[in-house]
Amino acid sequence: MPKPFRVIQIGFGTLGRSIAKAIIQRENLQLDAVVDVNPELKGKRLSDLIEGEIDSTLTIRDDLQQVLSDFKDNPADVAIVSTSSALAKVVPTISDCLNAGMDVLSLCEELSFPYEKNPELSKKLDEMGQKTKKSILGTGINPGFLMDLLPIFLSAPIQHVETIHVTRNMNSSSRRAAFQKKIGTGMTKQDFEHAISTGAITGHVGLVESLQMIGDTLNMGLEHVEELPPEPVIADKKIVTPFATVEKGMVRGLKSRAIGQKAGKTLITLDFNAYADADPAYDEVRIDGHPSIHQRMEGGVHGDHATIGMLLNLIPVIIDAKPGLYTMRDIPAPHNTERIFKDSV
Ligand SMILES: NC(=O)c1ccc[n+]([C@@H]2O[C@H](COP(=O)([O-])OP(=O)(O)OC[C@H]3O[C@@H](n4cnc5c(N)ncnc54)[C@H](OP(=O)(O)O)[C@@H]3O)[C@@H](O)[C@H]2O)c1
Repeated sequence: MPKPFRVIQIGFGTLGRSIAKAIIQRENLQLDAVVDVNPELKGKRLSDLIEGEIDSTLTIRDDLQQVLSDFKDNPADVAIVSTSSALAKVVPTISDCLNAGMDVLSLCEELSFPYEKNPELSKKLDEMGQKTKKSILGTGINPGFLMDLLPIFLSAPIQHVETIHVTRNMNSSSRRAAFQKKIGTGMTKQDFEHAISTGAITGHVGLVESLQMIGDTLNMGLEHVEELPPEPVIADKKIVTPFATVEKGMVRGLKSRAIGQKAGKTLITLDFNAYADADPAYDEVRIDGHPSIHQRMEGGVHGDHATIGMLLNLIPVIIDAKPGLYTMRDIPAPHNTERIFKDSV
């Protein structure tokens, strides 16, 4: 029997549950433990909380230290951290996992390209990786692929890049409830604007990180990077999604834009539009230059399913990586790894 990679899942929210299920169902992975601090989850069986049949007797634990101590003589290969978008909040968890002998993958958006917003924490994480001889990578579909790594790859055959424009036009109706909430689905315009200004809802997190990853990788010398305040998209008729009802005149979701400029010229534009029943839905990269490239994925990529795909496919990659902090542009070209086992690395 080929050997699976062993994984600990930290964070059992909406994404964490789907990640745990996907790990259990994937032959090249083995789920060793699940940790979540939510007191309502403690001691519950995964099989009672995950939709559909799963083959697991695991229960949710709330004490990471105890879990790490239980595995101290035989640690798992990788810890997946899906607890928060804020880098400062995930660093202590990452540190514990590195010290316990595991590589770390995280969905934390601020970890996707942390060098400009959080230079000190980035340095600290890299030092922790070097000291423990383990590696750390922030990944996901966005940030992590669609609006950063993909345009970076697509620039490879271009002799001269003039401008880059990436657009996600996402139909958010089929996305998880937490996502619909964070883009303001069903709110009044006034409540939306208040919630955005107070931080009660965040909108999309990671647009600036995506832009910085592109600008830095292509050495574009950006002098001004800015994320404009998200604008609500208002319903002209009633819309019902599996998680929310949007009355006419209420907020369907939002449009966010980030720009990167040099000498007053906009070189990179990222448009993230996510709202209920958006039509058409698509993901698009336009690079103007010599030659120009226009790539469009009709229907768009389903963010929740694809986030899990990114994470699981990167497990063999992060295990194989040299110690330290990585971003998606630093690793070998990512690809599906479901048929790669521990003994094939
Ligand atoms: N990069 C990407 O493409 C991408 C895509 C999707 C999601 N994400 C990000 O991934 C993260 C997870 O998403 P989600 O929808 O599953 O979030 P969620 O529903 O809020 O779940 C997070 C879970 O982690 C728990 N938690 C918080 N701090 C913890 C800690 N220190 N140790 C253990 N558990 C902890 C939370 O418990 P409490 O509720 O008690 O705090 C909650 O149960 C979010 O930050 C999301 O923005 C990124």
